[in-house]
Formats: sequence, structure tokens, C-alpha cells
Amino acid sequence: MEKFRIIGGQRLEGTVRISGAKNAALPAMAAALLTSEPVHLRNIPRVRDIVTMGKLLAHMEAHVEMAPATPDEVTLRAERVSHAEAPYELVKTMRASVLTLGPLVARTGYARVSLPGGCAIGARPIDLHIQALQELGAEISTEHGYVEARAKRLRGAQLRFEKITVTGTENAMMAAALADGETFIENAAREPEIGDLAALLNAMGARVEGAGTPTLRIRGVAALHGATHTVIPDRIEAGTLLVAGAITGGELLLTHCEPLHLAAVVEKLTQAGIVIRAEGSALRVHNGGPLAAVDVTTEEYPGFATDMQAQFMALMTQAAGTSIISETIFENRFLHAQEMVRMGAQITIEGRRAIVRGPAHLSAATVQASDLRASASLVLAALVAEGATTIERVYHLDRGYERLEEKLGAVGAKITRVP
Ligand code: UD1
Repeated sequence: MEKFRIIGGQRLEGTVRISGAKNAALPAMAAALLTSEPVHLRNIPRVRDIVTMGKLLAHMEAHVEMAPATPDEVTLRAERVSHAEAPYELVKTMRASVLTLGPLVARTGYARVSLPGGCAIGARPIDLHIQALQELGAEISTEHGYVEARAKRLRGAQLRFEKITVTGTENAMMAAALADGETFIENAAREPEIGDLAALLNAMGARVEGAGTPTLRIRGVAALHGATHTVIPDRIEAGTLLVAGAITGGELLLTHCEPLHLAAVVEKLTQAGIVIRAEGSALRVHNGGPLAAVDVTTEEYPGFATDMQAQFMALMTQAAGTSIISETIFENRFLHAQEMVRMGAQITIEGRRAIVRGPAHLSAATVQASDLRASASLVLAALVAEGATTIERVYHLDRGYERLEEKLGAVGAKITRVP
């Protein structure tokens, strides 16, 4: 298993290009199952989850073309879908595989998708996805660890999610796009990735309105056609790099991002004393002096993203004072805290709150990555720790960050991948 070795204490300075959003690219790839025509996607990050989704679609006999000459593009053609199944071997490595459930049943009338099971950050059930599809007329059964959905043709319905779910909303949108009649989705997720999926579906001939608001209206059509679409920039990668610039006392220019999608993160970083300036589609960050402790509570968009919680915790270990970080989205998302403590951070966990006291002198240690964003937070802590930190299990990081060691190395970090 590969590791990262990071020698802390380097100030980062330079320009980093932000990749496309993994969490927008995954539903976009799943949406290709809705049509027999080619769907051409641009700004696709070269990360492992994308490769996994490619394998999943290939398993369903969709044609997946990822040309080495154009690494950030993919063309998908699901001319026919003869094997409407997402097997456990792929779903267990990537929960987002469940995004194929809605498109499969809408297009072929049948889907068999493995239940994802638990993951490091909590139970993460898919009951709300299933309920939405049932309300759209699918008959659902669960057996042998798989969900099976059947419907001759889905029919439009009035849906209301009791809890906001990002991929649940996406599944319902894709299913409703091919349903007979009109669907309303109330209490829909408002994440930018929802807007991006709506834009792709509409380019494919769907009629989706209301993206970015709590209510989506989707008028079903009989068939969708091919399209070309550029996915939005990765707001979490950008947020992670903002912290990297700030925590090292450096200055970074992040290009190809969408500053509007980072408003909540920028607000908190600014309160902590970091100077961030939007320059068109770029963000410039530099550390304005000593860091101040700031409290943060994760929320659905447009609130502070749970996917930025771990990285913010790394930053708060370096801030003067006490910061209270409350996690409201996932029940068990503080595994990184214990690893940071092993590096010298002062963090105590009380249920869903982490209390971080700083500034703490971090010293290098061997630490383990437990999930994608936790891994990123350990990289950030290592950037300021004294000595050489080894981060094990970087495959978690590779699921969602494109060549992070190259991007950080190019702006001055001492980071190497150890086979
Ligand atoms: C997506 C993101 C993930 C991010 C998360 C929250 C993708 C591929 N992943 O995950 O990076 O951390 O949003 O912003 O876009 N829930 C249920 N039942 C369900 C579905 C969800 O109880 O059927 C719960 C979850 O356990 C969690 C909460 O709802 O507590 C929100 O989860 P959800 O928005 O669904 O997260 P994902 O879509 O899986």
C-alpha cells in the first residue's frame, strides 16, 4: 500500500489548477445510462472514484472511452444496457455506485444494486433513495444484500425527502427525467453538484427546473439524447488548498475554480484571519498573520460542507484559542482527530463536537488515513508538523484528489509517494 512522506515546515507559494468536481462527475457519468446516445464529459478529474464508476458502467456494457491524450474527458455510450447490476465488489469501494439505481430502473425497467453497507464515517443508509423510487412507482425488494427495483415505466410523483440527501436527490432527478408525467422533489439538496446534474440532464433533453432551490420540478420525457457537458470545478479540492496555503503561511493562487461555491468556507477562513481574494475564476489566499480560533458547524449547502470539516480542524490546531467544530451531517466523522492528537494536537471529542485548543506544536508521526477527507486533513497537518510524517493508506486520498502530491510539490511542499 502506498504512503506519503511529508517533511513539514515549508511555506507554499505559487499557482495550482483546480480539477473538476468528483462529486459532479460521478452523477454525470451515471446519467449517461439514461440515453443510448454518447454523452461527452469534460473537466473530469483523474481520480480513482472516476475509474471505479467507469468500471461499473463497463460492467453494465456501456462503452466507456477515457483517452490518454485527453485525460480530463470521457465519452460514455450506453447503447444498450444488458446487465443492469452494480456488484458488491465495486459498490463497497465506492458508495456513489448507488447513483446508477435511478438511471437503470428508469431506462431499462430493472436495476440490481448492492447495498453499500457501512463506511468509516457512519452508517449511511440508502433508505431515502429507495423510498423516492418507490414513490415513482418502482417495486423494490432487498435480498442477499442487493436492492432490486422494477418498473415498466416510472410515473411522476410528489416527493418530499424527510432529510436532505445529495445523491438521493440526484437519483430521484435522474429517475424522474424519464418518468411519465411531472415530479416535484421537496426538501431537495441545493449543492452546486445538483445544479450541474440539472444542466447536463437539460442538455440531454430533460426538463428540470428549480436546481439550487429546495424544490425541483421535473417534467418527464419519453427519451433523452446525447450531450456534451463540462463539469463544475471541485469546491472541496479548492477549499483544501485554501487551507494548505493558509496553514503554511504561504500564498497560493487557485485557478479554474468557482469562488461562489466556496462562500461558506471563505467566510470561516476569513474570520480566522486569512486573506482571500476572488479574481474572476481564481482565488488568491495568503495568511494575514496569527490565526484566530473560529467555531464551525457543518450544514447542507449553502452551509459549511462536512467534506471540509476535517481540513478545517487541521487549521484550527494552529489557531490561537478554542474552536468548537460541530458535525451535524455524519455521526462518526472525527476519526482524523485521534491521528492529529498523535501529532500533538489538542482535540477532545464530545459526541458530535470536537473541541480544538491551539496553537499546538505538531510533530511528525506515522498516521493512518481513514477516509477521503480525513486523509486530506492529515496531509495539511503534516505540512506544518516538525519532521517527516508518514501517512499510510493514501488510496483513500487517491479516490478524490487528483495527483495531490504533485500539485503540492509544485508549490513547495516536500511530499513524496512511497510505494
Ligand atoms: C454526498 C457526497 C459526500 C458528502 C455528502 C454530504 C457524493 C458522491 N458524495 O454523499 O461527499 O459528504 O453528500 O454533503 O456526492 N441519509 C440517510 N438515508 C439515505 C441517504 C442519506 O439517512 O437514504 C443520511 C446520511 O447517512 C447522512 C445524511 O443523510 O447522515 C446526508 O447524506 P447524503 O447527503 O445522502 O450524502 P451522500 O449523498 O452519500
